[in-house]
Amino acid sequence: MDYADPKKKNNFVGKILMAAILTALCILMLKQSPDFNPPTAFSRHEPGVTHVLVTGGAGYIGSHAALRLLKDSYRVTIVDNLSRGNLGAVRILQELFPEPGRFQFIYADLGDAKVVHKIFSQNAFDAVMHFAAVAYVGESTLDPLKYYHNITSNTLTVLEAMATRGVPTLIYSSTCATYGEPEKMPITEETPQQPINPYGKAKKMAEEIILDFHKNSNMSVMILRYFNVIGSDPNGRLGEAPRPELREHGRISGACFDAARGIIPGLKVRGIDYKTADGTCIRDYIDVTDLVDAHVKALEKARPGKVGIYNVGTGRGRSVKEFVEACKTATGVPIKVDFLPRRPGDYAEVYSDPTKIRNELNWTAKYTDLQESLQIAWRWQKSHLNGYGLSVAGGGGGGG
Ligand SMILES: NC(=O)c1ccc[n+]([C@@H]2O[C@H](COP(=O)([O-])OP(=O)(O)OC[C@H]3O[C@@H](n4cnc5c(N)ncnc54)[C@H](O)[C@@H]3O)[C@@H](O)[C@H]2O)c1
Repeated sequence: MDYADPKKKNNFVGKILMAAILTALCILMLKQSPDFNPPTAFSRHEPGVTHVLVTGGAGYIGSHAALRLLKDSYRVTIVDNLSRGNLGAVRILQELFPEPGRFQFIYADLGDAKVVHKIFSQNAFDAVMHFAAVAYVGESTLDPLKYYHNITSNTLTVLEAMATRGVPTLIYSSTCATYGEPEKMPITEETPQQPINPYGKAKKMAEEIILDFHKNSNMSVMILRYFNVIGSDPNGRLGEAPRPELREHGRISGACFDAARGIIPGLKVRGIDYKTADGTCIRDYIDVTDLVDAHVKALEKARPGKVGIYNVGTGRGRSVKEFVEACKTATGVPIKVDFLPRRPGDYAEVYSDPTKIRNELNWTAKYTDLQESLQIAWRWQKSHLNGYGLSVAGGGGGGG
């Protein structure tokens, strides 16, 4: 008669039990391991969905770009180390787009190559908009190495991670500061790039790295060279909230609002003897809504193996005096203005020729109106006296 040996049976059950325990242990360990990430919508490509990594998306321009992308149904991941950006901006995006798989924020420093590679290995990006950067000309002259690290070296890291993971599209935030002070205006994309400060040089080097890499790659690359960015979300959800400690390096719009709020006694206009119509410097101001529109158009028109380099400006120069007058009208505050001698390193006149971007990307500045752009930004400033830290009751609404 054939019968089961109870010893053998016990052995078999014991083995099964042991295997089950070991498997459970492995799963537990894997789950607790920082490298284990269960698959999410962000970690896999989905037909019909474009997943865009927005570096520096907690900052001024990056947050506006993320908002526009989300509105246009893109999947968005922001990576930011919050060194200059605002968690408040991220929270607003999270509140507006809470659905799973729409938006995620990763707190990370692009200076940490290991972390960057890990982020790319855990997320299935279809495109990168690389905004993250320190971006003050004055600061760059005081601390140039910070700029070469943060701008040039970090761009190299992002590019390497993209290459390793085969991310096909890069939209790069560059600047008119890469041109320096060309004699001939307006500036076209063919104008020689001769930057005169570490900020412009670091951005130019980053462009060169991207272009050299591109020669042997099938990546789609769009380099956008912005002129002077102003304005904020017309619906008042986002604004520009630079760190108070960076005020001294700040841009003219920030100084104008600070003067209107009485944080600083007035505006200092440096240089009234330039060879311009009213003696003050001339700049090309572009509204952030137009700027992010250029990014979306660049993304739509990006093609494998192709490079596009575009100026993003209005093509119209406005003097500092005109800017100050527009600011006074927009804020309704009779801002005190002091006229001082020139600041070394300032260029007299800079404005773009936007013909190329109009012809190739079908983009023109539609929302830029110096006074209205400043008025929209002022509305946000007034209702967010402490930046993203504190909203004043009733603020944040209005606009078109
Ligand atoms: N604002 C302008 O007028 C202007 C003009 C031309 C070009 N740009 C370019 O546009 C981009 C965005 O500028 P912005 O005005 O929004 O500046 P911003 O300071 O508001 O935003 C930059 C963001 O990048 C983040 N960041 C910086 N270093 C980082 C790092 N190592 N890792 C992760 N995140 C990091 C900051 O925390 C911040 O949120 C920059 O590349 C800048 O050079 C801006």
